[in-house]
Amino acid sequence: MNLKHALEPDIFRIISESATRLQTNAYVIGGFVRDFILERGMHKDIDVVAVGSGIELAREVAGQLDGQPKVQVFKTYGTAMIRHLDMEIEFVGARKESYTKDSRNPIVETGTLEDDQNRRDFTINALALDLDTHRFGDLLDPFDGLSDLKNKIIRTPLDPDITFSDDPLRMLRAIRFASQLDFTIHPEALKAISTNSHRIDIITEERIVDEVHKIISCPKPSTGFLLMDQTGLLDRFLPELTALKGIDEIEGQRHKDNFYHTLEVVDNISKNTDNVWLRWAALLHDIGKAPTKRFNKKAGWTFHGHEFEGSKMVYRLFKRLKMPLNEKMKYVRNLVLLSSRPIALSDDIVTDSAVRRLIFDAGEHIDDLMTMCEADITTKNEKKYKKYLNNFKLVRQKMVEVEERDHIRNFQPPVSGELIMETFKMKPSKEIGVIKEAIKEAILDGKIPNEFEAAYQLMLEEGKKLGLIAHER
Ligand code: CTP
Repeated sequence: MNLKHALEPDIFRIISESATRLQTNAYVIGGFVRDFILERGMHKDIDVVAVGSGIELAREVAGQLDGQPKVQVFKTYGTAMIRHLDMEIEFVGARKESYTKDSRNPIVETGTLEDDQNRRDFTINALALDLDTHRFGDLLDPFDGLSDLKNKIIRTPLDPDITFSDDPLRMLRAIRFASQLDFTIHPEALKAISTNSHRIDIITEERIVDEVHKIISCPKPSTGFLLMDQTGLLDRFLPELTALKGIDEIEGQRHKDNFYHTLEVVDNISKNTDNVWLRWAALLHDIGKAPTKRFNKKAGWTFHGHEFEGSKMVYRLFKRLKMPLNEKMKYVRNLVLLSSRPIALSDDIVTDSAVRRLIFDAGEHIDDLMTMCEADITTKNEKKYKKYLNNFKLVRQKMVEVEERDHIRNFQPPVSGELIMETFKMKPSKEIGVIKEAIKEAILDGKIPNEFEAAYQLMLEEGKKLGLIAHER
């Protein structure tokens, strides 16, 4: 592989010439180099190290680019960023970092390229390409990151205890890269993650969630979750999940291990969706099972109301992890709340009204809910698997029929509150709610079709029952 090809885009020549003018040396480092060697396609974030001031180099480069893009300076970090075409180019001055035991903030001094490579997280992220005009494209690889890339190993440049304690987020990054790239974490690094796992507590929730998002977006998220569990990290920020671990047995009755089951469900759903929030819903769909678990001689193990409990836990979990409490949270919460409904349906003879109610409650998320329930089938019994899947197929068919006929999915009351007030010549009051509810219930039960005329007639009847006098159209 000719690494000079990595530097074909014009931008690298411009950075190189700018560095020469400033009489400094510059290097491309990190993810860009790693992903080029792994042939993962062009990495859009380019990290450039300058021996000297990264900010000055950024200004010099921006001056040479068409349209003279803005240089965004982050003074506290001594870095600068330019957006160019579809790339984000980050400039940093080579530095040496030393950490003291009592402070999370390092003492930062200017340093050499080697100092800068030493402070990086992994050998595969410390690979640098020289931008000097005479050595253009030469690889600088002091820790043999190239071999680690070939052998698919995540290893730290320094003693892993130092690298992880310098920035504990790197423990999660190691696991994220292992899952994304299908690499193995070097045994010593893995051991150091276990030893230092408690240090993750000093990392902000936002940065943790960012990594978890990336892990859950992998083709097989269980790889990352198992590593997070094995090293003790998961328990520190998602204890709701680790609480699902274990199989209890009383009087010969056992329940399944809901932690491993959950991970299987997430892997299953990841084959069918890239929607990260649907994957989150799959991850959290059973969290209510830990607090609701009971044993009863007759029924064995039960988890009554776990969906409702789980949905309340979703809100608290999002809040704790500073995840957005917006429609994404409501989406996950609702899917968790409804997670058992299609299963209950497929067990019985599927009635139209049950299907109508499910479509009403799930609204536009009904397809995602079905996808989640299908992923929830983890039985290893081939016969049972086929049977359950077929049951869901029947539920889906019934849904199409019911939806074609009754249009429940985006339900809008066929008779409005205004019309009710106008008909009975009254001001806003609780009777309006009672009438609207009766109409909705009648439609969902299939007693009347989801149409204006039928709903209007029912409104008149319900009004009469309430002693109201109608002034008809
Ligand atoms: N880095 C580090 N420690 C961190 C974060 C980043 O040492 N906690 C270094 C690594 O050398 C990394 C580079 O900074 O390659 C850029 O970081 P970032 O953009 O976060 O990651 P990439 O490696 O570019 O990978 P990706 O974009 O896939 O996250």
